[in-house]
Amino acid sequence: MSKPVRKAVFPAGGLGTRFLPATKVIPKEMLALVDKPILQYGVEEAIASGIEHIIIVTGRGKGAMEDHFDISYELDATLERKGKKELLELSRKISSMARISYIRQKEPLGLGHAVLCAKDLVGDEPFAVLLPDDVIDANPPCIKQMIDVYQERGGSVLATMTIEGPGISAYGVLDGKQDASNPRIYNCAGMVEKPKFEEAPSKQAIIGRYVLTPRVFELLEKTTPGAGGEIQLTDGILALLKHEKVFGYTFEGKRYDAGDKFGMLQATVEFALKRPEFAEKFKEYLKGLSL
Ligand code: UTP
Repeated sequence: MSKPVRKAVFPAGGLGTRFLPATKVIPKEMLALVDKPILQYGVEEAIASGIEHIIIVTGRGKGAMEDHFDISYELDATLERKGKKELLELSRKISSMARISYIRQKEPLGLGHAVLCAKDLVGDEPFAVLLPDDVIDANPPCIKQMIDVYQERGGSVLATMTIEGPGISAYGVLDGKQDASNPRIYNCAGMVEKPKFEEAPSKQAIIGRYVLTPRVFELLEKTTPGAGGEIQLTDGILALLKHEKVFGYTFEGKRYDAGDKFGMLQATVEFALKRPEFAEKFKEYLKGLSL
């Protein structure tokens, strides 16, 4: 029986250069999708998946994330005084959402390095990794689907989505065979970072959700910096493959790259259209645009 997955790491120490100038001062993870920071979508996904302890890897100038999940006395007192009960409830709910720990990544030395920063807080147990800029609309939540695969198979699990055509070249691509009993599962044999379309080993693009075994930490410690002087998570997982089974899992749901301007625009339109309080009004507005 596999150990339960109780902890989730959110790497949020990056610079968010794709979203400049908005991210010069505001952490990318705090950019709002409709009315909620993208990081909160990920935290809610983890909690809805049974995660008990959230670990956020932060960096310089990213204190807004800690403030967001903390109590805001001035705001709460003002909302109370003004009788704004619903908003007060909303604000209080955020600060009591989950057990959250923060660890600072002193320099943005790569995603693998960010995950390694969480080693002591995770300890010797399997854990989830959620990249906050990948916002995923799924039911059951994406990381829950993956935890279920981990429980059943007992190896690390990487979320993938099927991409037809040359668009696959923008991703890390999974190499491996589809499982005979479950077509959503792939037995991972390797990964290729941003391959040419003709050289892509599959149509399975790796996206920002992982369930990893703790052995990845010792392997990341031995990983030398790769592309751009960064310690890549991919290299740690490739090393893991020499010791353990790793699975790709084509999750059910839709992923948005909210760390990218165009991806955020798509997510904004689609999430807004799902909000009952203004879906109809927004639809009418969109229909009225002479495009
Ligand atoms: P990205 O590559 O999307 O984030 O990493 P970035 O480097 O901040 O953004 P761009 O490419 O310059 O626009 C995915 C996640 O990993 C975190 C980021 O904060 C983001 O949530 N990350 C990345 C770290 O925590 N530390 C790093 O050194 C690099």
